[in-house]
Amino acid sequence: MTTVFEKINELKRKQETIMQGGGKKRIEKQHASGKLTARERIEKLLDPNTFIEFDQFVKHRCNNFGMEDQENPGEGVITGHGTVNGRLIFVFAQDFTVVGGSLGEMHAAKIVKIQQMALKAGAPIIGINDSGGARIQEGVDALAGYGDIFFNNTMASGVIPQISVIMGPCAGGAVYSPALTDFIFMVDRTSQMFITGPQVIKTVTGEEVSAEILGGAMAHNSTSGVAHFIAANDEDCLEQVRYLLSFLPSNNLDSLPTYETTDAPNRMDEALNTVIADAPSIPYDMKNIIKMIVDIGEFYEVQPFFAQNIITCFARMGGKSVGIIASQPKVMAGCMDINTSDKSARFIRFCDAFNIPLVTLVDVPGFLPGTSQEYGGIIRHGAKVLYAYSEATVPKITVITRKSYGGAYIGMCSRHLAADMVFAWPTAEIAVMGPAGAANIIFRGDAEVAEKTQKYVEDFATPYKAAERGFVDCIIEPKETRPRIIEAINMLKTKKETRPAKKHGNIPL
Ligand code: HXC
Repeated sequence: MTTVFEKINELKRKQETIMQGGGKKRIEKQHASGKLTARERIEKLLDPNTFIEFDQFVKHRCNNFGMEDQENPGEGVITGHGTVNGRLIFVFAQDFTVVGGSLGEMHAAKIVKIQQMALKAGAPIIGINDSGGARIQEGVDALAGYGDIFFNNTMASGVIPQISVIMGPCAGGAVYSPALTDFIFMVDRTSQMFITGPQVIKTVTGEEVSAEILGGAMAHNSTSGVAHFIAANDEDCLEQVRYLLSFLPSNNLDSLPTYETTDAPNRMDEALNTVIADAPSIPYDMKNIIKMIVDIGEFYEVQPFFAQNIITCFARMGGKSVGIIASQPKVMAGCMDINTSDKSARFIRFCDAFNIPLVTLVDVPGFLPGTSQEYGGIIRHGAKVLYAYSEATVPKITVITRKSYGGAYIGMCSRHLAADMVFAWPTAEIAVMGPAGAANIIFRGDAEVAEKTQKYVEDFATPYKAAERGFVDCIIEPKETRPRIIEAINMLKTKKETRPAKKHGNIPL
């Protein structure tokens, strides 16, 4: 008869084997390529000693191509829960040392279980991807597994924050689970995402491209806009994930995390009064304004390398999270285009889903003109911003610092899209178009074009016409911006706004 002592020892032995993953050699290879193992990643992500692992003993059921003899410790993915800064989160980390982290039926089942558990508990889920994709030996069972994960990603969308961390290959249809989540982190040089890899591209189209250029971290952070954050290495990446979580509630019904701040809510900053030059075309860096108004000058930029003519970031004001959308006059004069529209609409919808107040800083001369924008569909892309702001019911506070012309005036969270408070600096210019464009149309051929343009500037390139209609609530000195925004957020703490009942809207895509 086996004794209890022996049974306990057998459990320990089995667990010991599972802890080794794919074994010493493959772990060394993982380290040599600059990557941590799945277990090391989970340890770095979570608060020390908080990880509770699920499904250590889950095993594949595949009998094809010699798989029947394969043990695959942990089935190539480690799942469980723990805490980050004391708050519950769920995590899965694909283990590249075990069959290349490839996804088969039971690997997928482990991920699905953790997704459903996170949804039930109302806690964020972090997925660490490092995988060769669908496990080839498992055929359609692997594809079914991906389908189940995608479905659960969609069910969880807008209910719990979902964060994807790409720390190795992520190829083929596998990319769609991260794409369905809220944020994608990529590690520079050691992660790639693509639908079809360099080999297939070469065969099908003849194009030659390296994996890094095609789908490396910078390609997706700066060019495609697929990823939101880039990290120098695994450690930096996991530290950034912890930081992002500090701004987020645990679910769509949870209140925002609150932090004690040493930065007084009524702090004014005289330097704001001199940010804008007398000449209206001189650019400035909107990030300096953000720094001056948020708690201790600290903000976390989302997609800092993509569509840099708009800034999206998380910050805190009065100790609570806000989502900031800000024109960047320093890049392309801060004009709106296809990429800024996609970037800002998605950010607005995330914040609205998770009750994070929106602060919009406006200095926008209009939409970027040209065939590339029109053929690229700026009409349907730009419409996303109108839609996202209009459907958002979180507190919406807008500050117009300088230019706010035409459709861009409406689109940057104007009163007409149900902004709750619209502030304008005395330097604001709110009109159908800028003085030069207006003169070209309504004063064309006029002998007194210069005088009339000057009159247009005086009458229309100001905040006062909009204030006369009540479209601007308050014209404020720039230095007052921080206290006024915080007062508005506090005033709107109990804001309730409902929308007509519907199955779901039909956002232009
Ligand atoms: C089964 C796989 C695998 C896979 C890797 N392995 N990918 N096993 N199915 N998809 C195994 C390898 O056989 C190897 O096993 C171990 O994992 C490590 O792989 P290596 O090739 O040695 O590693 P490396 O040289 O670093 O190359 C990594 C790689 C390469 C670039 C990811 O393995 C690769 O190209 N894999 C196939 C990628 C792919 O085409 N996947 C299908 C994508 S389509 P041993 O025993 O030698 O250690 C897809 C469809 C999803 O995913 C659809 C969803 C809707």
